[in-house]
Amino acid sequence: MKGKFFGLGVGPGDPELLTLKAHRILNEVDVICMPKSRLERECVAYNIVRPLLRGEKEIVELYMPMTRDAEILEQEWQKGAATILAFLRRGLDVAFITIGDAMLYSTYSYLMAKIKALDEEIEITTVPGITSFAATAAALNIPLAEGEERLAIVPSIENPQKLPEVLAQFPNVVLMKVAPNFNEILDVLEAEKVQDKAVLVSHCSTPRQQCEYDLEKLRGSKPDYLSLILVKQQGRWL
Ligand SMILES: C[S@@+](CC[C@H](N)C(=O)[O-])C[C@H]1O[C@@H](n2cnc3c(N)ncnc32)[C@H](O)[C@@H]1O
Repeated sequence: MKGKFFGLGVGPGDPELLTLKAHRILNEVDVICMPKSRLERECVAYNIVRPLLRGEKEIVELYMPMTRDAEILEQEWQKGAATILAFLRRGLDVAFITIGDAMLYSTYSYLMAKIKALDEEIEITTVPGITSFAATAAALNIPLAEGEERLAIVPSIENPQKLPEVLAQFPNVVLMKVAPNFNEILDVLEAEKVQDKAVLVSHCSTPRQQCEYDLEKLRGSKPDYLSLILVKQQGRWL
């Protein structure tokens, strides 16, 4: 019998924000796999679940570089999928853990697709997690959207000049992966006169959580990777 493969979204950082289902599966599987971007860094997802783990588990780090180089990514996903598949073919159940939700900007979706393509008999179960932006809205007591308002989720603005278009169409915008182009994003928010309608939140739901409403103060700095910006153009929130 082949093992089962689980993709677990482990939430934004607070271990109490893990779902009961993810918690149960974590403690039932034989192997826990996780992405690791740089060899010297600890895996964020593992730090979230570590206090919840009971008993012996095999812990496997899969190297997933933070690059946009499609060839390198393809190579590493393929290697990661092959590692997971080797455990599954030995009859071991494997969970891959990932921050926030498993289906939102996560390596999990690529690995899952590779495993599916390599062996269609493998049973795959994805468990959703609380996204970073849901946790941010909760931490700030600010609704993401109300009534008929629209909400846009925008990843790392490769070209921040596209942002005005988004702001024109969506009163509520979540900007994720903001660290690389942070200062360019600030320029656009300022030009669009929405800088005072934006808040940056880092390490949401953890003891390191930081919220900054005065984004100008951060100009010239680079926020941590685990940072997002919530823009609320209408209403009384910011
Ligand atoms: C690769 S994406 C992962 C998104 C994740 N799957 C989710 O559901 O939120 C990484 C980005 O998510 C955001 N992020 C993840 N965790 C966060 C946290 N605890 N606080 C603030 N932003 C976070 C940041 O914008 C970060 O650059």
